[in-house]
Amino acid sequence: MITVSSIIQKKISRTFRIDPNLCPVFLSERPEFGDYSTNCAFVLAKERGTSPFLIAEDLRKEIESKKLLAPYCDRVEVKNGYLNFFLSDKFLVQCHADWSSCIAPLKSTEKSKRVVIDFSSPNIGKTLSVAHIRSTILGESLSRIYEHLGWRVIRDNHLGDWGMLAAKLIAAYKLYGRKPLLRVTIADMQKWYVRFTTSEKDHPELINRAKQETVALQGENSESMQIWKALRTASLREFHRLYKILEVRFDHEFGESHYRELSSQLVPQLVRKGIAKRSQGAIIVSLDEYGLPPILVQKSDDASLYATNDFATTVFRYKKWKPDLSLYVVANEQSLYFEQLFRAFEKYRLSPGTKLVHVKFGMIRGADGKKLSTRRGAFISLEELLQKATQRAQRIAKKKNPLLKQNELIRVAAAVGIGALKYQDLSQNRNTDIMFDWEKMLSLQGNSAPYIQYTYARLASILRKARLKPISSSKFVFGEEEGLLMRKCVQFGEVVEKSASEYAPNIIANYVYDLCSLINGFYERIPILKSEEPQRSVRLAVIKHASETIKASLYLLGISVMNKM
Ligand code: ARG
Repeated sequence: MITVSSIIQKKISRTFRIDPNLCPVFLSERPEFGDYSTNCAFVLAKERGTSPFLIAEDLRKEIESKKLLAPYCDRVEVKNGYLNFFLSDKFLVQCHADWSSCIAPLKSTEKSKRVVIDFSSPNIGKTLSVAHIRSTILGESLSRIYEHLGWRVIRDNHLGDWGMLAAKLIAAYKLYGRKPLLRVTIADMQKWYVRFTTSEKDHPELINRAKQETVALQGENSESMQIWKALRTASLREFHRLYKILEVRFDHEFGESHYRELSSQLVPQLVRKGIAKRSQGAIIVSLDEYGLPPILVQKSDDASLYATNDFATTVFRYKKWKPDLSLYVVANEQSLYFEQLFRAFEKYRLSPGTKLVHVKFGMIRGADGKKLSTRRGAFISLEELLQKATQRAQRIAKKKNPLLKQNELIRVAAAVGIGALKYQDLSQNRNTDIMFDWEKMLSLQGNSAPYIQYTYARLASILRKARLKPISSSKFVFGEEEGLLMRKCVQFGEVVEKSASEYAPNIIANYVYDLCSLINGFYERIPILKSEEPQRSVRLAVIKHASETIKASLYLLGISVMNKM
């Protein structure tokens, strides 16, 4: 996958001996500013104490006289101190000839950078609710994006499967579970858990039972361990069924339980190294200098905590993979917690060289604006959402194409329904809360997955009818309309890079939506199948590139396309 911006950046940086970080090249905001721009003249002006306008003009002259950017750009302009670059038609023809190198994923090698992505990470004993859907969808998309860029991606589902939660699940099973362990479902566990926690207030002895179970688990008591294993397995069976429907996969599912040993060894180590200290019977890591509250790594009753587990997990990941980047795809609610965790790691250089990032996101709210899920209250399961989305999609697909056979209809409905659900989430800025809006989500006109999927199917149908013939490059001339569309397609690489560096799949979603709007305008304005050669072939070639760009973009969002809908 080539990105023109990085080529321009490299050339400028080498020729003028400028640190590449000081000459970032980005996609231009408006067509009159060309295809790419850089503000490097401003940066240099500050360094050299001269006017950015003069520097920009000097750079432009040299770029032109040395033909530095041929054959990529045939025009460089200075506007308000910015250097603007215009892609040449010659280069677009070259892109056409070698299209796969424009959008194909980069290969990962031994030397590739490594990223650990901690996502989904549900707690056992409760079916995946909408609260975990955002993490799952975002994490899968980010994994695909980094894979596309040639990174080695390690996908880790950090299950909440230990500690007090596990203890309560076991205690609840012992009290209310009237069926053999092997037959226990996640719905049973959930029911028992809710009953257990709601009875705690009036029956304090339940709290003691839970504490006893915690001790039993810590001592690996065989009966408790047997129940725990069965409950964990039943939970995973349910999670995996849903992940399969969502086309989400993991490399590891260590879960909190995997770190139980490491966690207990870690606390004395942290104390010995002076990282943690005793305070009022508990053990804490102080973060005073950052103006942050301390992290509690051990409670006064010796119980280890969520934080202790995350300490152990981060240390483990560092030793095992030495990742360059570690992403924690977890809701906004845990922002303070992750800030504390990362500060502590930074302060004590516990994973030097790894950039730790909390990829946070807002809530999914119901139509009434309220939070959709709670452990105690009523909540919508992911399963219900998927069913509802698929049913609605089926109705729409049937109306749109009454000729679809039943099996095709089912396939289309699943891809559209699930695609719509994912797209509604991924197309929005992840930091904001999102509202569930069925109409918008499944609309065929607006910014939605069905709109994009239908655009793709329409292109596929044109290409099926057209029977493409290869034409020689010499006859390949882009008109204004074709050039516009081709330029947009060529931006794919930059868009993927930007969405990776900002951990923001919505950048890809918005790009593919814009691309589709452009295409829909394109074939409304000009004839394609009925146009004369060689124009017909040029137009069809661009349509083909555009359709491949849509497919590649949607893949990165975890959404599938269909040739026929
Ligand atoms: N299980 C946690 C929850 O449901 C999320 C875990 C996120 N990952 C982490 N390393 N803390 O809230």
